[in-house]
Amino acid sequence: MNENENPNHYDRERPAGLTPVTVIGLGAMGRALAEAFVRAGHPTTVWNRTPEKAAPLVAEGAVLAGSVEAAVAASPLVVTCLTTFEATRQALGPATEALSGRALVTLNSGTPAGARETAAWAAGHGARFLAGAVKNVPSAVGAPDTLLYYSGDRAVFDTYASTLKVLGGDTVHLGAETDLAALYEMAVGAMLLPALVGFFQGAAAVRSRGLEAGSMVRFAEKWLDMIKSLLPVYAEEIDRGDYSEAASSVNLFLEGAAYDEELSRETGVDATWLAPLYDLVEQAVAAGHGEHSVSALTEVLAKRP
Ligand SMILES: NC(=O)c1ccc[n+]([C@@H]2O[C@H](COP(=O)([O-])OP(=O)(O)OC[C@H]3O[C@@H](n4cnc5c(N)ncnc54)[C@H](OP(=O)(O)O)[C@@H]3O)[C@@H](O)[C@H]2O)c1
Repeated sequence: MNENENPNHYDRERPAGLTPVTVIGLGAMGRALAEAFVRAGHPTTVWNRTPEKAAPLVAEGAVLAGSVEAAVAASPLVVTCLTTFEATRQALGPATEALSGRALVTLNSGTPAGARETAAWAAGHGARFLAGAVKNVPSAVGAPDTLLYYSGDRAVFDTYASTLKVLGGDTVHLGAETDLAALYEMAVGAMLLPALVGFFQGAAAVRSRGLEAGSMVRFAEKWLDMIKSLLPVYAEEIDRGDYSEAASSVNLFLEGAAYDEELSRETGVDATWLAPLYDLVEQAVAAGHGEHSVSALTEVLAKRP
């Protein structure tokens, strides 16, 4: 039996030569992952339900497997990037025998429950498992500061550390619990939509005056820098459960509601998406947090049924 047939020979990264990798799922993100491995010189096998999507990767040197089973059997390290955990288990269905003894790394978005379910499924088929998440866009894959979280089998993370770093230099193992990457991905990701909708609302207000959205970018970036500087301060207040030293109080935020309404009337820009946020602020006031730091909203959120 040669090395390719016996996955147990893949316990360590091969000192002479780069680890062969299989990438399953060649959507926007999967293609970027496979491309990064190919460009870094890793022997890269790919598989996609719609095989045509593999053509540009094959032109760069990847090998297109004829079946998902052959794709899994080709490498000790199998990276999947499908839309969901469920789709991942479904796509790997015909390859469960080949998974035994290999390292499976999922890089899709999903819930902690989905990660736990997939971890149990992978263990049931004898695979070692890491659930990961790419915290950036496909064009950022491979950059030194691109963040990827992983959780699960620490030995897999350590064994393939240099291979996984090909995908992004800021590569973090969060812990042995397989659902931590999904938890952090969703917890941090929660900021995206409110922040972007806020920017879009501002852009619509500026455009209502015939000005370009681009004219506010520099100022919006500074605003985000300011918000960024507050995160460690608020995190400390939340972790201590002490909101008494308010640089910006809940009451101060409540005053903003009237201004937002007035600007909405003046510009004709719909700001109704803010109503549930002000509802939260009002609940915090009702709970006695009016003069407390705005981070006390965490308490209101945590107590929601
Ligand atoms: N794109 C981003 O900006 C970004 C950023 C961070 C994280 N992510 C995450 O990365 C994951 C993939 O995103 P993406 O943008 O690459 O999505 P995408 O472009 O829609 O590609 C989805 C991939 O999943 C495959 N697929 C879906 N269901 C399948 C099934 N039942 N059986 C077999 N294959 C299946 C698709 O195959 P076909 O080609 O045959 O349809 C395709 O390869 C998602 O979880 C996403 O949240 C994406």
